[in-house]
Amino acid sequence: MTNLSVNINKIATLRNARGGNMPNIVQFALDCERFGANGITVHPRPDERHVTTTDVYDLKEVLTTEFNIEGYPDERYMKIIRDTKPTQATLVPDPPGVLTSNAGWDTVKHAHFLKEIIHEIHSLGIRSSLFVAPSIVHIEKAAEIGVNCIELYTGPYAEEFTLDKEIAVAPYVVAAQSAKNIGLKINAGHDLNLENLSYFKSQLCQLDEVSIGHAIVCDALYIGIENTIQQYLYQLG
Ligand code: PXP
Repeated sequence: MTNLSVNINKIATLRNARGGNMPNIVQFALDCERFGANGITVHPRPDERHVTTTDVYDLKEVLTTEFNIEGYPDERYMKIIRDTKPTQATLVPDPPGVLTSNAGWDTVKHAHFLKEIIHEIHSLGIRSSLFVAPSIVHIEKAAEIGVNCIELYTGPYAEEFTLDKEIAVAPYVVAAQSAKNIGLKINAGHDLNLENLSYFKSQLCQLDEVSIGHAIVCDALYIGIENTIQQYLYQLG
């Protein structure tokens, strides 16, 4: 089974456009859970342009499924993690102000830094995940550092998919196999949608979780969030 974690950043972006509390992201997250999502993902960036620190604390109070908090592990992120103890902490290498996460970790270069952070995350009883490209060397190093999961950065897959889906998925199949062989759980995310998801899932039979935001919100504009979640779950079934 592959879990669907709904990234609700875009809902916060919409709310922030007007101030006030519409749409209410806590209610939206609860509704996603009610409609079958297996988890909720947030990425509280330092500039608070979408999900804010306060949102994270509010969500922690009420969520009953897997809570996944993404972010660059600076002091601010680590305080949020220590205080809220989510199910999973997904570390991304984003520099401040980047539009969206668009590269995986260089786990070789940042091994020492990541090892200390991951040690602390585990001491809090939280599952750790590293956002990485489908690169064997970075995946093997991630395992050596002691992380529990990798999240494969699927942006390049989504881009290539429209040209040649077999070429697009090939590096991910190899990467997933090697990750499984060394005992890592496999998550994936970025630009996954109703066109490219089921093929990705069919080729990576050991996919544990996908984290999807942008396409879910776009689809929900036309068919509603309940229907959208059902369709994504169907693709993963
Ligand atoms: N995974 C990570 C690490 C991300 O930063 C994002 C975007 O916030 C996603 C998954 C979801 O990507 P998308 O919004 O394209 O579905």
